Amino acid sequence: MPEQILILDFGSQYTQLIARRVRELDVYCEIHPYNKVPEITSDIKGVILSGSPSSVRDEGSPDLDMDVLRGKLPILGVCYGSQLLAQKYGGEVLPSEIREYGRAKLSHIDTHYDLLKEMSHGSQVWMSHGDTIKNLPDNFDVIASTDSVRVAAFKIKEEETYGIQFHPEVTHSTEGKNLLRNFVVGICGCAQDWTSDVFIDASIADLKAKIGSDKVVMGLSGGVDSSVAATLIHRAIGDQLICVFVDNGLLRKNEFEEVLDSYKHMGLNVIGVDAKQKFYDALAGITDPEAKRKAIGNAFIEVFDEESNKLEGVKWLGQGTIYPDVIESISVKGPSATIKSHHNVGGLPDFMKLSVVEPLNTLFKDEVREVGRALEIVEKIIGRHPFPGPGLGIRILGDVTAEKVKTLQEVDHIFIKGLKDHGLYDEVWQAGAMLLPIQSVGVMGDERTYEKVVALRAVGSVDGMTADWIHLPYEFLGKISNDIINKVKGVNRVVYDISSKPPATIEWE
Ligand code: XMP
Repeated sequence: MPEQILILDFGSQYTQLIARRVRELDVYCEIHPYNKVPEITSDIKGVILSGSPSSVRDEGSPDLDMDVLRGKLPILGVCYGSQLLAQKYGGEVLPSEIREYGRAKLSHIDTHYDLLKEMSHGSQVWMSHGDTIKNLPDNFDVIASTDSVRVAAFKIKEEETYGIQFHPEVTHSTEGKNLLRNFVVGICGCAQDWTSDVFIDASIADLKAKIGSDKVVMGLSGGVDSSVAATLIHRAIGDQLICVFVDNGLLRKNEFEEVLDSYKHMGLNVIGVDAKQKFYDALAGITDPEAKRKAIGNAFIEVFDEESNKLEGVKWLGQGTIYPDVIESISVKGPSATIKSHHNVGGLPDFMKLSVVEPLNTLFKDEVREVGRALEIVEKIIGRHPFPGPGLGIRILGDVTAEKVKTLQEVDHIFIKGLKDHGLYDEVWQAGAMLLPIQSVGVMGDERTYEKVVALRAVGSVDGMTADWIHLPYEFLGKISNDIINKVKGVNRVVYDISSKPPATIEWE
């Protein structure tokens, strides 16, 4: 295991952000739920206790046996974590009298303490708490305050245990990164050597040891995660990795051929399977979005199973699972409620009897991209927008037919190519077109038409959990609308989706 920081999660919305910030310092870290503390090995150099939506004053609120950590490792309690430390050892935590939410300034800050080194007097921090630490135990020193919060930060005497009531991980805490560096590098002594290259070398060694001379089969989607995972496994075991790329008939225009070609150039051993008709048959007459997802998921499993059964001696299934999926599935809150059944999470059914290998399951999305670039995967694959597993199947509202797919592929192609040609593609997290199940009246020449409506959607996001619509230039939208109506038969109206998520979602189904 690499040298690391352990983050114990009490359920704060910001916990993943703490991990992001630590990793930005080139230090590896892992998030574990507060009630499942892993064994404390010598690789763990320090512990961060996260915030929480709970109050330490509530009965049954998240608790932790601090004695297994205190005095043995440096500890930084953030918000709830700091209140828990204070309360546990005889301090007093009470509801705040005034609202402590938003920006505040550290009017007193003692920079002699290692945690606050080189921070400025008046440094802006982000507060978000309903409770406040009123009194500290005798052996705790106040090391920073704001005008309204006396105990904004403390240190326990003679040990490297700190608490802060503000959130250094949020960008509104302008010197938050500095504080985290002071903790992770200065106090915990982490070496800042966890880079893409180190990750790649360690993963390859791990994969070699784990897989040995076995064979691995892996389904590719053309997306970033599966492509990077496959490349990494391929570096480790070469042609013992066999990839399967299925044309489900719901991909973008020319995507199957182009992506298959890129994979072959990358030296991957890929079997391309044309299963278009199987998917169209499975989808015939189905209009309910979840039923469509199920039909597509099942058809995929059948095709994949059939292909892997043709291969001899396969023991492993490679998957492109990334860290947020893992955190979500072990989180304090439990797997979040299924609003849509995103079938890429959960993988293949048990009957396949394969052991799973997931080389990216400790990385965030942007780290996957960095690793992909370090592996010299072409930008065309690394920089791609996310695309849903069920593809155009959930962008055609109502039932799916081969003809509708063809229409939507043309529309989507004009839009996406337009974004690329106008230098807008990289400004957008994800874009695409929806074929609506309605027709509208139009005129072409002297003729009255009654044809399809398409909706264009382009959103900005960091993780797909929340998203906002992108303000694409009017001239661009005008040109794309014209091109679509002139070139795509059967479409006479184009609309642009200006809803954000929440309350809307990115996809329409
Ligand atoms: P929503 O529509 O829930 O989408 O805001 C969030 C992200 O997830 C993608 N998405 C899917 N991905 N299978 C997938 O693999 C699915 O069924 C699915 N539905 C939505 C969506 O494209 C966006 O990136």
